[in-house]
Amino acid sequence: MEARVTAHARYTISDIDKRLYGSFLEHLGRAVYTGIYEPDHPSADENGMRRDVIDLVRDLDTPICRYPGGNFVSAYNWEDGIGPRDERPTRLDLAWHTSESNHVGIHEFADWADSANTEMMLAVNLGSRGLDAARNLVEYVNHSGGSYWSDLRRKNGRAEPWDVKLWCLGNEMDGPWQVGHKSADEYGHLANETAKAIRAFDDKLELVVCGSSHSNMPTFPQWEATVLEHTYEQVDYISLHMYFENYEKNTAEYLALPEKLDRYIGTVGGVIDYVKGKKRAKNDVRISFDEWNVWYHERKQDAERMKTWGWPHAPVLLEDIYNFEDVLQVGCILNTFIRRSDLVRIACIAQLVNVIAPIMTAPGGPAWKQTIYYPFQFASRYGRGTALQLDVACGSYNADVAANVSYLDIAGVHDGDAGTLTFFAVNRNGEEPMDISLSLEGFGSAKSVEHTLIKHDDLEATNTRLNPDNVKPEAQTGAKIAGNSIHVSVPAYSYSMITVQ
Ligand code: AHR
Repeated sequence: MEARVTAHARYTISDIDKRLYGSFLEHLGRAVYTGIYEPDHPSADENGMRRDVIDLVRDLDTPICRYPGGNFVSAYNWEDGIGPRDERPTRLDLAWHTSESNHVGIHEFADWADSANTEMMLAVNLGSRGLDAARNLVEYVNHSGGSYWSDLRRKNGRAEPWDVKLWCLGNEMDGPWQVGHKSADEYGHLANETAKAIRAFDDKLELVVCGSSHSNMPTFPQWEATVLEHTYEQVDYISLHMYFENYEKNTAEYLALPEKLDRYIGTVGGVIDYVKGKKRAKNDVRISFDEWNVWYHERKQDAERMKTWGWPHAPVLLEDIYNFEDVLQVGCILNTFIRRSDLVRIACIAQLVNVIAPIMTAPGGPAWKQTIYYPFQFASRYGRGTALQLDVACGSYNADVAANVSYLDIAGVHDGDAGTLTFFAVNRNGEEPMDISLSLEGFGSAKSVEHTLIKHDDLEATNTRLNPDNVKPEAQTGAKIAGNSIHVSVPAYSYSMITVQ
């Protein structure tokens, strides 16, 4: 089949905030313990952090990492994770029914983030705790010295404040599963008062208020309207979460789900405008899509296993093994964020290591890249610059979730400084290859084109410890320049990155 795409230098969507390629690490399963932290591992650094994992995270080039949860944060006492390690308490984590040793806390995570070349995005507990614990944490993390909490940080070995800019006001407070779940009015009031207290400390901090955990939530989108009516003038972002599933093994339907994501974003954009108008507010609120990923491969089994265990420390949990089909899905999700980058300024893949993650580790053994590592890495490294409003002419199909789903899912980014145009293209047609003609207007003449392809004949192909390179990108040679056009042929069900210079 054929697809014609036109990109014009003046038809732009938005500059892309690099934090669109953020990540997330929760005290959950083996994300922290035997994920990033394993003092006995041969690659461990002086802080007990696995260097092999740090290298893989650095290569992903993820500019922010949200921490420490997730559901975990809603019953977390951050003070448990400071001071001498051997004096820290072991606590029962109510979110995941596990034991938390607190061997990793804010100091260790901050050092790790520094090594991994990522900035911290911290969440405060508005579930079991409230304003006071939140403002103490902000003071501990960001105040230079001369106060109780900042001096305690200094005593604990860190003289300089970390100067964390981005703070989440709780996590998924709309979810009945959340420890300390609240109604939209209860949460909105608490989030607003907490935001005011944090702003009294530093009004330059960026604050994220909780939106919906999923567009399927019965309270969506009234939740957003009520919460923003309480908080609009005190916050910068409203968070959204969404996980993608394919229990039915229906690839066409699965790959249409980003259309639902797009509608979700659009609806919340409408709610933001409504509340802004109603309040005659001057400030803008944007979206922080701070949890997204494919999550279904191990989900039901995990729920059963959790019923059978006591309070294990760092058990195997949420360790989805991703396949080639998920490469296509992650590519389409990231394309949606790029096309919505005027509204979605921040997004975090959930999560980063072992727990629904692009990076896996074996305790004492190697670390390797899951299939989804690659589309995330490509977007994060090469999807920086200005998002382009592309005109796309291509065949489409009807799915239950949306009609007229284009077989070609494509996003384009112009990096004016580097002088590059990068297109991320997913062929959602499983029957036919696709000839793509990219017409480039107003960018000057193209000198070179590179095509990188991810393709596997088996949609269920995975990367494992024993076969870590089963699904991986391959450079192609067939892409051609003809005048102002680029011609690229891509196989059925495939992911491509096309770079023009
Ligand atoms: O990422 C796994 C969990 O999904 C998070 O803890 C929670 O916020 C969401 O429900």
